[in-house]
Amino acid sequence: MADYDVIVIGGGPGGYVCAIRCAQLGLKTACVEGRDSLGGTCLNVGCIPSKALLHATHSLHEAEHNFAAMGLTGAAPKVDWKQMLAYKDDVIGQNTKGIEFLFKKNKVDWLKGWGSIPAAGQVKVGDTVHNARNIVIATGSAPSSLPGVEIDEKVVVTSTGALSLPKIPRKLVVIGAGVIGLEMGSVYARLGAEVTVVEYLDSITPGMDAEVQRTFQRILKKQGLDFIMGAAVQGVETLKTKAKVSYKLRKDDSAHQIDADVVLVATGRKPYTDGLGLEGLGLETLPRGQIKTDAHWATSVKGIYAIGDAIEGPMLAHKAEDEGMAVAEVIAGKHGHVNYGVIPGVIYTTPEVASVGVTEQQLKEEGRAYKTGKFSFMGNGRAKAVFQGEGFVKILADKQTDRILGAHIIGPSAGELIHEICVAMEFGASAQDLALTCHAHPTYSEAVREAALACGDGAIHA
Ligand code: NAI
Repeated sequence: MADYDVIVIGGGPGGYVCAIRCAQLGLKTACVEGRDSLGGTCLNVGCIPSKALLHATHSLHEAEHNFAAMGLTGAAPKVDWKQMLAYKDDVIGQNTKGIEFLFKKNKVDWLKGWGSIPAAGQVKVGDTVHNARNIVIATGSAPSSLPGVEIDEKVVVTSTGALSLPKIPRKLVVIGAGVIGLEMGSVYARLGAEVTVVEYLDSITPGMDAEVQRTFQRILKKQGLDFIMGAAVQGVETLKTKAKVSYKLRKDDSAHQIDADVVLVATGRKPYTDGLGLEGLGLETLPRGQIKTDAHWATSVKGIYAIGDAIEGPMLAHKAEDEGMAVAEVIAGKHGHVNYGVIPGVIYTTPEVASVGVTEQQLKEEGRAYKTGKFSFMGNGRAKAVFQGEGFVKILADKQTDRILGAHIIGPSAGELIHEICVAMEFGASAQDLALTCHAHPTYSEAVREAALACGDGAIHA
């Protein structure tokens, strides 16, 4: 008799969602988590705490820049950094305790400790070996290292350290203009730090629509972020409470240095599978360390599945959650499915940036016939009323069939707006379907409809 039908290793968004769904489907389930709280990187040191700091500092920005224009006078609030961190920690606590409650409600056992897999069908936590008919690896990812850069989480930090700095740095150097670098860079720029982003490529946010990249970088520059583009970081020298970042410009190979009080290394993440004992199991991995899985998240070892950042695909909490639900269904004998063509990506800066489906560059490379409908938030009354007229919605549709192939938004609440287009894409909708749908006025969503109209006979307010 196995102790459990399913043991999920990892209590992040992939793992905890998987465990809850397994239990809901009638499977006896446990989830192994070694942190003191559930929720993984996302809830403890990632998505959620960064959103708290983004919200707090956005509020400060509003007070400093827009209150007076609205007739709200008086001195802008002073920053109590300790309290801001306490607020962030309180948000984390509320969310992680919420998962604990959901585990109890759904009768998922939390096996506290770090798990390993001594053999197929077995999970070891501490000194105890538990038997499980199925094992799901959902161990997530860790920041990837950069040669010549030693992380101490004090002066040279990853996103984890950046969320709990003892004080606001005067000079912050961010290595990497990806999602983490720009979100955390925005936080500290709003708090008054001098922020310089050093990026290897010639454009920010790799893989994103080129027009969005350009607009986004222009807006961030206006907000005070400085960019050194086409620069390969060679190393970071730490001198007690300061650091020197050395980089070479790719265009002429010239060497440069820049000083910082704090350096944030945000050059990507790598799958985290340390200590699981994958080698002993003969479980196949890919060259970049991800666990190899088939279309049903089964690994090369029978009865062991893997999901989330530990396998291929975008390292996003919601992608892991979807895989967690789907693999639970597969294990329960149902038909779990994830539509990898409709996974949105969101950057929670101000303005927000969101995308789904293909980019215009991909369509060009594939030689596909497409049309573009674009609408600027300058034509959206609601956006202008809240000082957010910058940015646009861009919808890409098949030239012949009008089917929506992708969408790219930079503007207010882009991270919410994108889901209307995700739903439309799931239903195989055409741009005209969106254009014919009544949208409430005044809403930001009208910009989505206008972009859909622009795929046809034209937007009204353009
Ligand atoms: P990223 O992959 O988004 O960006 C890393 C950047 O670093 C790239 O632009 C790359 O060209 C640059 N880079 C690499 N080596 C460099 C060097 N030596 N010198 C200068 N630049 C260099 O990685 P990031 O921002 O660390 O995020 C990690 C993962 O976490 C991503 O997969 C991201 O999607 C996910 N994440 C998602 C969030 C969201 O959905 N809002 C928030 C935070 C993270």
